[in-house]
Amino acid sequence: MEIIRARDYEHMSRQAANILSAQVILHPESVLGLATGSSPIGVYRQLIKWYEKGDLDFSRIHTVNLDEYVGLSADHPQSYAHFMREKFFDHVNLERANTHLPDGTNDDAWEECARYDKIIRSLGGVGLQLLGLGPNGHIGFNEPGESFTKGTHKVSLAEATIQANKRFFESEDDVPRFAYTMGILDIMQAERVVMVVSGAQKAEIVHEAFFGPVTPRVPASILQLHKNFTLVADEAALSWC
Ligand code: F6R
Repeated sequence: MEIIRARDYEHMSRQAANILSAQVILHPESVLGLATGSSPIGVYRQLIKWYEKGDLDFSRIHTVNLDEYVGLSADHPQSYAHFMREKFFDHVNLERANTHLPDGTNDDAWEECARYDKIIRSLGGVGLQLLGLGPNGHIGFNEPGESFTKGTHKVSLAEATIQANKRFFESEDDVPRFAYTMGILDIMQAERVVMVVSGAQKAEIVHEAFFGPVTPRVPASILQLHKNFTLVADEAALSWC
């Protein structure tokens, strides 16, 4: 595990964007695993800037997102599909057919999870996975539990996640209670994993996840065992380490 200590959110975003651009330049047919939430927005912003300057070409890149809320269609303003179009896809030359997210409108969970895992397999797995860190140590929507999950599955969101994500919805009642998420094995099989974390409110969980024992009670802690994992965090997020 490698730690890159950044000064602040902007610096963290540029450092992580550098790693993603190296991947896109060196491996122009890569599969990028992508995340939503506030942590990676600066990374997407930076990648868009470099794309606009003519330095990056996404035309042969494929993307698979980590997760999607069950019950939200791709055009729902709070869906992750909408987030990705708004924050990234609509601003670069990714082929829309090469971008994948779980389909939140498919209420047959078994079918949807099997479909999504088949897409990941058919692409040959993830080359570089970008992650954020949940306030309870979740990655994707793999919530704390008694065991690590494997492939894509339907999860019941933890109370801490509902509380953290209600800021994006009109009221707490509007936050979906279920989501489809890639599993821990899908994430661990990525060739490279980069996590971005910012802010003092994440300092305690960063310490627990990366300086404590590997345990499904803190799902991100499994990344300590990944062969090529880079944590890009700002000073505030590393203040307990
Ligand atoms: C989002 C995702 C989540 C977030 C995590 C942190 O696709 O998979 O695990 O990365 O909840 O969210 P922020 O960045 O908003 O603190």
